[in-house]
Amino acid sequence: MGLLQFEERMSEILFSETVIQDRVREMASQITKDYTANGYAKDVQGRPLLLVGVLRGALMFMMDLAKRFPIPVEYDLISVSSYGNGTAPGAVRLVKDLEKPIEGRDVLLVEDIIDTGYTLEYLRRSFTARNPASFRICTLVNKMARREVSTLIDYSGFSLEQDDFIVGYGMDYAELYRNLPYIGILKPEHIA
Ligand code: PRP
Repeated sequence: MGLLQFEERMSEILFSETVIQDRVREMASQITKDYTANGYAKDVQGRPLLLVGVLRGALMFMMDLAKRFPIPVEYDLISVSSYGNGTAPGAVRLVKDLEKPIEGRDVLLVEDIIDTGYTLEYLRRSFTARNPASFRICTLVNKMARREVSTLIDYSGFSLEQDDFIVGYGMDYAELYRNLPYIGILKPEHIA
């Protein structure tokens, strides 16, 4: 099964590799401008902006974004999981926490997609309770159709109005498609 055969499973390529990379560059540039004071973004103790990627979907986006910053950044990773059926809607559990404390740090949370908003709400509460100097949210895709919890999103790459099943560029269906360099809509016959 090659990547070409994966492409045949898409009803549409929503965001091509070029479109994504251009947008990632723009986002990095906007974020840099916003964080930069005197040409260098760092907190009061001199520590650079800390990117926090949410495993596993955000990995590819965060790596591309990190490469586009003309300023030093650090990064860390966190992993959360939604509870399965039969639990309260939106219940989220921590699977892997950050390596280091974030108190006093400028933190930018990096997500591939915000859907219902439950994951983000959980993370926002968890992060702000740790007293960072600032906490902002950046997502590549902001999917509006199924939003249950609305939280301010500081940086959004693409807004998606319709409820399509999208995969690629970090996003999976049954763990497949994450390594596609584009984002596509998966044909219904490939969704079990
Ligand atoms: C995705 C995505 C977000 C979350 C958003 O992760 O990366 O973390 O879902 O959904 P929500 O707004 O409805 O809470 P997923 O649980 O699919 O795990 P993955 O990143 O490992 O694919």
